[in-house]
Amino acid sequence: MIYKVGRELEVKVEDVAFGGNGVARLDGLVCFIPFSIPGETVKIRITSVKKRFLEAEIVEVIEQSENRVEPKCELYGECGGCQYQHIDYKTQLSLKESQLKQVLSRIGSLSELPEIEKIVPSPKEFHYRNRITLNAKKQDDNFIVYGYKHLNNQDTLEIQNCPIAQYEVSDLTRVLKRTPWGHKNLNRQRPKPATLRCSGGDDPVIYYGKAPKGMPWRTEKLAGRDFRVPLGAFYQVNPEVAEELFSITTEWLNELPQPKVIDAFCGAGFLSMGLEDKHVVGIEENEASIEAAEYNALQWGIKSFNYIAGDANKLINKHLRNKGDSTILILDPPRKGCGESTLESIRKHKPSHILYVSCDPATLARDLKGICGESNYKVSKLALLDMFPQTSHFETMVLLKKGDADV
Ligand SMILES: C[S@@+](CC[C@H](N)C(=O)[O-])C[C@H]1O[C@@H](n2cnc3c(N)ncnc32)[C@H](O)[C@@H]1O
Repeated sequence: MIYKVGRELEVKVEDVAFGGNGVARLDGLVCFIPFSIPGETVKIRITSVKKRFLEAEIVEVIEQSENRVEPKCELYGECGGCQYQHIDYKTQLSLKESQLKQVLSRIGSLSELPEIEKIVPSPKEFHYRNRITLNAKKQDDNFIVYGYKHLNNQDTLEIQNCPIAQYEVSDLTRVLKRTPWGHKNLNRQRPKPATLRCSGGDDPVIYYGKAPKGMPWRTEKLAGRDFRVPLGAFYQVNPEVAEELFSITTEWLNELPQPKVIDAFCGAGFLSMGLEDKHVVGIEENEASIEAAEYNALQWGIKSFNYIAGDANKLINKHLRNKGDSTILILDPPRKGCGESTLESIRKHKPSHILYVSCDPATLARDLKGICGESNYKVSKLALLDMFPQTSHFETMVLLKKGDADV
């Protein structure tokens, strides 16, 4: 059959692929349909025809899934931020679970996977994000729009509240234009994006462009203690799920007898701060985060941790070279994953265990293939944490064990 842009037809949705698009099959061709749900029969209009797949939009939902719900946000369907507000939360979680398995086996070529040991839902389905960044687009000399990218990837959609942002953060959108820095931003030819951030321990703040230097560190609450993070530096966006990430890391790694841990891409020391009986070396490129990590360790009563500012992809080799095989390596890189040099160092020096924490299952799977494909590692534990409800994103933890490691 010939498929052309604009053609309308009826299809049954089979699945939702990682990224959020529903999937139907037409004569063996995959057709991606945003905002659809498995089991639904939908009338679609083809919007693009590629060599190996089609893209389409829903014209009408003919048979609706019982898992379809009313989206909370009035901009849902236009805004590029959320993909799953039309799906009930339980179904969002089970879709993410099957996507993780699919991505690990398809991209990662990992056939023997254990069951996912922990699937952690977010206690808050909405109003969980402690930080949002809004693009700034100047309309004329007197008017600026702050918002998210439109689904068409061109326009900026003005945001007056965001139902996935914490209330304190969402409320700040109303004052963005009225602050002194907001006025200054209006006078710039190219206004800077605005970041709205709150934390467990202090008042919410707005900054435009990069975070100003010399501002007091933010105080987050972690395992009942204060945890300090520089204003512009990375901190997990969903604090309740972050607590779980911290406690699973602590539980999994404290069970292992290996005394040495390298915490690569360590930020302010978040993941390894519960491993006080081990010797931790943290590596992070953001110098302010390293200063905060040193401060956090001392405040938590830990004297045996060392932190190094620099490029983890370059420094891991040196630190693994020394007793690599009795070392646990934590990897928590940005979305793009680890560099090839990190994978090479792992293959060469073979740490006994690797805990890979990732917010992007596709780059995670690629990197795991680079590690497990050529060395004797097996996935021993898996966890999925829903750090980002209503969106297609999620956090994954994979614990790899070297074939000859005792535990
Ligand atoms: C996903 S965050 C994780 C931070 C930390 N593990 C946590 O949970 O808070 C990734 C971190 O990697 C840092 N980073 C990015 N590229 C890096 C590199 N090449 N070398 C070292 N750190 C890097 C970022 O500054 C950021 O703090």
